[in-house]
Amino acid sequence: MINFKKEISKQISNTIKIDENQLENYIEIPKDANNGDYAFPCFKLAKELKKSPQLIADEIKQKIELDEQIIEKVEVIGGYLNFYINKSKLIEEVLKEINEKKEEYGSSKEGNGKNIIVEYSSPNIAKEFHIGHLRTTLIGAALYSTYKYLGYNTIGINHLGDYGTQFGKMIEGYKRWGSEYNLEENPIENLTKLYIRINNLCKEDEKVLELCRENFKKLEEKDPYCVEIWNKFKTLSLKEFNKTYELLGVKFDSQNGEAFYADKTKEVIDLLKKSGKLEESQGAEIVDLSEKGMPPCIITKSNGSSIYATRDLAAILYRARTYDFDKCIYVVAYEQNLHFKQIFEVAKYLGLDKKYTDGLIHVPFGMVRLSTGRMSTREGNVVKVNDLLNEAIDRVKNIIEEKNPNMEEKEENAKKIGIGAVIFNSLSTTLIKDQIFDWDTILNFQGETGPYIQYIYVRTKSVIEKAGYIPDLENIDYALLEDKESYNVLKTIYNFNNILKQVIEKNETSFLARYLIELAQNYSNFYNENKIICDDKKIQDARVYLSYCVGNVLKIGAKLLGINMPNKM
Ligand code: ARG
Repeated sequence: MINFKKEISKQISNTIKIDENQLENYIEIPKDANNGDYAFPCFKLAKELKKSPQLIADEIKQKIELDEQIIEKVEVIGGYLNFYINKSKLIEEVLKEINEKKEEYGSSKEGNGKNIIVEYSSPNIAKEFHIGHLRTTLIGAALYSTYKYLGYNTIGINHLGDYGTQFGKMIEGYKRWGSEYNLEENPIENLTKLYIRINNLCKEDEKVLELCRENFKKLEEKDPYCVEIWNKFKTLSLKEFNKTYELLGVKFDSQNGEAFYADKTKEVIDLLKKSGKLEESQGAEIVDLSEKGMPPCIITKSNGSSIYATRDLAAILYRARTYDFDKCIYVVAYEQNLHFKQIFEVAKYLGLDKKYTDGLIHVPFGMVRLSTGRMSTREGNVVKVNDLLNEAIDRVKNIIEEKNPNMEEKEENAKKIGIGAVIFNSLSTTLIKDQIFDWDTILNFQGETGPYIQYIYVRTKSVIEKAGYIPDLENIDYALLEDKESYNVLKTIYNFNNILKQVIEKNETSFLARYLIELAQNYSNFYNENKIICDDKKIQDARVYLSYCVGNVLKIGAKLLGINMPNKM
């Protein structure tokens, strides 16, 4: 497709001899379509050119040579140049591109040859998979898909929290009372109980605590019995987590968690020693970060065992060597901002190529609070994501029973809609913001929600069904789609690939979620203003084709977010 922005910046560049890439960055899309399709704010150049924005705008307008087949006209308003795209050109471009790429519309090869690690989910074994883990799982999976769609070689990693001194305790608890708990039935709940019980005993009896420490030491030394029990905890937990991943349709390329790096921390310590950055402090070894305005990063504890940060540093080394990453993205809640700032700083002392340390990116996100007291921590328990997802499905089932009891594929659709609603909610607010989880909001079919997008998608499907065909592109008269509502839809579709680029540039999934809402709303306006199935075959063809395009883009975009489309609603 023609890149109109590029075309405009090239022509402006010819008039003022400023690099077109710089100019391209300045180009905006006006909020009000009456101000054109693209706007160039000249005040950004006022300083550089030592002229008033108005004067710059006038001069550019006079000198610029525009191909009317592409850009119809340019107007000066205030310090802005407003560009109007040749409508039929844009329509032609979009329809041809969709016809050619179909379900791959918006994809590209721009990422070819680049390796992107996305680390997401990373729950702690033997602990509940809570709502914070839900968000990292969904954000990470959506980023993963989007990078992939743009041609990047993408590696999804579940950095399981499967290591730490608490496993010494859990092994002790298991030894003592393992048979009292049905771990197969309710693994996480029972493992949590086991942990609380042994922890209490440790507080009373120093000797038990000592045994726990020994267990952990044995685990580190790969004692077969301790490893076996630890493995059991891990297998049971993963079985439970996999239920969630299956419901969400989330996959990973690697589940190497913290334990995988436990025996790889020695190299980190050696490298930091070599760099002269490792200092002793009260028996522990630390890297001082006071110059960076941060507390020190602890590398080894006084008892010599490795810690969370050190295992993360070992992972950076390993990932650089194994995957030769261009970016290594950590989707982790903002509570860990400091942790990542620290390890990214310390990583600079590991002797890695700058490419790798520059490629480390933390994508933080806000907390989720539940609007109803019932869902929030009950009796100190965290909300189980599985319960939440199943509740979403049940609630949708009830809505279907109430409104459309004869719907086909009820079960399947309730799942797509319920899960889709949860996913969309997780991804549609600016990631860094805290969120309130409220059932009525996320399941509102008319709101800015997953179900709304699915609903509009289904509408495009039923338009095609009613027509009984998808028209051939050759039969479409582009001029019939130049009315305001149709054109708005097509302009939005034109922008799809651009939005995907913004998503990965800022690692911000809400751009795509908002985009899908906009497209759905634009289509809804189009639908309300225009009769689609009508006596004029030419008009019908054009409008059915437009409906087909919208359905296609909604489906692709939703899929990138992890949302499946129902066929009926
Ligand atoms: N397991 C941790 C938690 O649940 C998150 C791990 C984040 N990733 C990392 N590389 N440190 O809080």
